[in-house]
Amino acid sequence: MSEIKVLAVTPEIFPLIKTGGLADVTGALPGVLADHGVAVRTLIPGYPKVLEAIVEGQEVYHFPHLFGGAANLIATKIAGLDLLVLDAPHLFRRPGNPYLGPDGKDWPDNPQRFAALACVASEVGRGVLEGYQPDIVHAHDWQAALAPVYLYFNGHRVKSVVTVHNLAFQGQFPASEFAMLGLPVDAFSMHGVEYYGGVGYLKGGLACADAITTVSPTYAEEICTHAFGMGMQGLLRSRHELLHGIVNGIDTKVWNPAIDDALAHCYDIRSLGRRLFNKRAIEKRFNLQEDDGLLYCVVSRLTWQKGLDILVSNLDALVASGARLALLGSGDAELEQQFHDACLRHPGRIGVVTGYDEALSHLLMGGSDAILVPSRFEPCGLTQLYALRYGCVPVVARTGGLADTIVDANQAALAAGAATGVMFQSADGAALNAALERTARLYADRKLWAALQRAGMKTDVSWDASATRYAALYLELVEGQST
Ligand code: ADP
Ligand code: GLC
Repeated sequence: MSEIKVLAVTPEIFPLIKTGGLADVTGALPGVLADHGVAVRTLIPGYPKVLEAIVEGQEVYHFPHLFGGAANLIATKIAGLDLLVLDAPHLFRRPGNPYLGPDGKDWPDNPQRFAALACVASEVGRGVLEGYQPDIVHAHDWQAALAPVYLYFNGHRVKSVVTVHNLAFQGQFPASEFAMLGLPVDAFSMHGVEYYGGVGYLKGGLACADAITTVSPTYAEEICTHAFGMGMQGLLRSRHELLHGIVNGIDTKVWNPAIDDALAHCYDIRSLGRRLFNKRAIEKRFNLQEDDGLLYCVVSRLTWQKGLDILVSNLDALVASGARLALLGSGDAELEQQFHDACLRHPGRIGVVTGYDEALSHLLMGGSDAILVPSRFEPCGLTQLYALRYGCVPVVARTGGLADTIVDANQAALAAGAATGVMFQSADGAALNAALERTARLYADRKLWAALQRAGMKTDVSWDASATRYAALYLELVEGQST
C-alpha cells in the first residue's frame, strides 16, 4: 500500500519544547517511521519557543473562534520535522513551562488550551486542510487525548490511537468544563469523557480510540492492575485487546558518544578509557573530589514517581561505601532541599545541580560509572537507555520499562555475558541499599565492569524494532478501515 499518513498530536516535541521523555519520543519517531512507509505530520501548540523557531511557515487554516479567540494553523518544517503549529495567542503565547504559570501552578485555562489542540487535530483529521487527509490521528498523553473523542462523537471515520506516556497525568477537570468542549451531550457518559462525575481527557481518549499504546510491555500489564491503573484499570482491562506495549527507543544520532559535542571527550566501545576525561569534567562541575572510585549520577525530574526520596534515605550509606553522586534534577522543592542538605553533609562526595540542562545530562552519561533510577513506577524511562548507549551502567528499580530494558547482573546473566545493569525491587529502601552494595562489588572487578559496559553499549536501544511495531499497528488500523 502507499504511504500511511499519520497526524501526531503532542504538547511537547524535541528539540523545540521539552519537559520530559515525551518530547524525545515525539521528536525522534517521525524520522524513523519515514523509513517504514509512514509519513508523520505533527500538530503542536504555538508556544513562543516554537513560533520563534519558524523560519518559513505557511498559514494553512484560520479559526475565527477557537476557545475564546482567533487562531491560525501554520505549516512549517523545523529540524527535519513536518509540523502544523497551532498559533492561538490567547492560549499558547506564554513564556516558560508549557503547563505551569510563573507561580508553579497549572494554567487555569489548561482545559481550554488542550481541548483546543485536540479539537483542531480532529478538524485536520476530518480533512479541513486542502490536499492533506491523514489516515490516522495519533494523540500523545492527556493533552491530546480528546482528539479521538471529537472524532468519534462527531462521526468522523479517520482512525485514532492514544499513547499513554504516564497514567499519573490524566487531565481531570470539573463537570462544569464539559459545556465549553462543544461535544454532544452523550459524550458526557461512561463511553465518553465522564469520569467519576467530572471530565477526564485521558479517560475519554482511552474510551474512544481505535487503539491504545503505552511505552513498554510491562507497563501495559501494570496499568491493568489496581496498583498501577490509577483508577483506569477497569476501562483498560475492558479494552485490553486494543492495548499494545511498545517500548521506546532513543535517537541514536542525538545520543552518540562518538560524536557528542556536549562531552569533554568522545569515545566508543573500543576506547572506554577516555570516559575518564568526562568523569574529571563532572567532578569539576559538581564540586566533587577527584578519585577513581564509583561515581553515580541521577538525571531526573524530582518527583515521587522517581523514588528519589528513597535514595535520599540511602545517601549516607552510598557515601560510606566510598561512592560519590552527581545529581542533575529539578522539581519538588522539598526533595531539592534534601539533596542540597546531603551535599552539605558530604562535601566533595555528593554534588547537586538543580535546573534543567540538556548538555550536562549528556556529560553525566559520558563520564559517570553508573546511573541510579529508583522509580516507584516508570512507563518506559529514557535515561537508562541513554546510559546503556554511553557505557554508564544502569542501576534500576524493577518496574515498567526499566524491567523491560535492563538485564540484571545475576550469576546466570553474567556468565552468559548478557547482563547490562543492576535491578532491585522498587519502592524498597533495603533493596536499593543491597543494589548499591552489589554495584560496588561489581565495580571492584574492573574486567567484569567493563563487560557490563560493553554489553550495554551493544544493546539495541534504537527505534528500529519499535518503529516497525508502530508501522504494523497503523497498517492494521488502516486496513481494518477499508474492509
Ligand atoms: P520522564 O519523562 O518521566 O521525566 P524519561 O526518563 O522518559 O522520564 O525522560 C526524561 C527526559 O528528560 C530524558 O531525556 C532526561 O535526560 C531529561 N531530563 C530530566 N531531567 C533533566 C534535567 N534536570 N536536565 C536535563 N535533562 C533532564
Ligand atoms: C513519561 C514517562 C517515562 C517515559 C516518557 C516517554 O514521561 O514517565 O517513563 O519514558 O513518558 O514515553
